[in-house]
Amino acid sequence: MLVTAGSSPFLPKRPTTHYICISAPSSHTMAAETKTTDVVSFEDIDVSSIKICCIGAGYVGGPTMATIAKYCPSVKVTVVDISQPRIDAWNSEDLPIFEPGLDELVKECRGRNLFFSTDVEGSIAEADIVFVSVNTPTKTHGIGAGRASNTKNCELCARTIAKVSTSDKIVVRRIVLFM
Ligand SMILES: NC(=O)c1ccc[n+]([C@@H]2O[C@H](COP(=O)([O-])OP(=O)(O)OC[C@H]3O[C@@H](n4cnc5c(N)ncnc54)[C@H](O)[C@@H]3O)[C@@H](O)[C@H]2O)c1
Repeated sequence: MLVTAGSSPFLPKRPTTHYICISAPSSHTMAAETKTTDVVSFEDIDVSSIKICCIGAGYVGGPTMATIAKYCPSVKVTVVDISQPRIDAWNSEDLPIFEPGLDELVKECRGRNLFFSTDVEGSIAEADIVFVSVNTPTKTHGIGAGRASNTKNCELCARTIAKVSTSDKIVVRRIVLFM
């Protein structure tokens, strides 16, 4: 497995490495191609204390993170969003999204290792892994109107991650982008 953020056009390239590339110990091919990042092996990571932040508590972010929280009970998963009503709904009995089994999943994990919050910057700052799962609507004007994705939300996330990060992070794009 290899997770790299250096390939994203939206993440700032800085001399100080804030984004790391992870490769399985046996897979050095891609690592060799990844010249702008540090490489660490899974063996160097203490999985029992990993913190995940997911930016975007929508149809993708919410259920994905609830599933990770269930199967990785030692991982602290925080889903953040700029929308207070959406976060309030995730923290209520009436979830904003319906998926079969989601209610039970969230009830089991919420407050244990699954949290929903509007503290976007604080959650990013403490996270080891940041998922970006914000909406990327189709552009309505300019180049690519009607087909390309509006990357405004995605770019804002990248800028916020760069601003508040004081430790290495794995950044995972969990969005669809049509260019
Ligand atoms: N919903 C699907 O079935 C589906 C399927 C495949 C791919 N996708 C892709 O997954 C991505 C996420 O889709 P979704 O359906 O979960 O979107 P969504 O609209 O349900 O949720 C996105 C959330 O991101 C939040 N957000 C936007 N900008 C933010 C920011 N800067 N900081 C914090 N929160 C922010 C919004 O408030 C919203 O709650 C999109 O790229 C979409 O194209 C979605």
